[in-house]
Amino acid sequence: MVKPLRKAVMPVAGLGTRFLPATKALAKEMLPVVDRPLIQYAVDEARAAGIEQFCFITGRGKTAIVEHFDVAYELEKTLEERGKTEILQELRALAMPPGSIVTVRQQVPMGLGHAIWCARSFIGDDPFAILLPDDLMLCDTPCMAQLAEAYAATGGNVVAIEEVPRERVNRYGVIAPGATRGNLVEVTGLVEKPPVEKAPSNLTIIGRYVLMPEVIGHLAKMEKGAGGEVQLTDGMAKLIGRQPFHGLRYEGRRFDCGDKAGFLEAQIAFALKRPDLAPQVRAFLDKYR
Ligand code: UTP
Repeated sequence: MVKPLRKAVMPVAGLGTRFLPATKALAKEMLPVVDRPLIQYAVDEARAAGIEQFCFITGRGKTAIVEHFDVAYELEKTLEERGKTEILQELRALAMPPGSIVTVRQQVPMGLGHAIWCARSFIGDDPFAILLPDDLMLCDTPCMAQLAEAYAATGGNVVAIEEVPRERVNRYGVIAPGATRGNLVEVTGLVEKPPVEKAPSNLTIIGRYVLMPEVIGHLAKMEKGAGGEVQLTDGMAKLIGRQPFHGLRYEGRRFDCGDKAGFLEAQIAFALKRPDLAPQVRAFLDKYR
């Protein structure tokens, strides 16, 4: 029996430099896809996987993220008075149970590994999920639920992986694959942003993880890796051989919403999934062929 997965860490303290100037004063995670911010999709996905406790790693200029999950009492009252019951119900359905979100400040964005280490008190001795909200997932079974199921079967660490063209592996964390069973690939090595010619495969890690708390001890050493940042990948690599470690070829699609083209594609893909919008969107897309 593995320990149940109930906690998620969501790092949102990055600078979002690829999306400037939009992200100068607005958190990247608050950028909306159709009508909800990226952070909302990530929280919904985690809740669908049974996650109950959330830790946002925030930084300067990120307060709107916390506000978003607050009860907007005046707004709800006004919607009620105006008889806007549909949207009111929608807002209320998104409400989080009291005490389910905590925030931790990462004063200086020293890297994803450092951001996760900042959540050490929240994590304690429990397994935990990580969701990077700028990776937006379109999956029939929510991606984190796929990972949680794999974790329940294998125990240990499980990361979502996908294949990318070889020439692009230098942008990602890359796994060295071992034995494969169905969608599960044993991870025998991990390297962050390797030069293309040195990459152990073209299987890359996306922004969804289930990790064991022991990773924190390795991150605590604050060793700097690729780009001079404290890399999560380097901390995870230290777990290999000591604990089970698998990559899951998840089913579905990922949109890199930290990137302008990825974000625009996500808008189209998500709008086309919405029965209330799809016909209109299809019609105007035809104009741009
Ligand atoms: P990114 O690599 O997308 O970095 O971080 P970024 O700063 O957000 O964006 P760019 O590359 O400058 O455009 C991946 C995730 O890790 C978080 C980010 O918020 C994002 O969710 N992160 C990164 C932190 O929380 N702290 C850090 O020090 C670095």
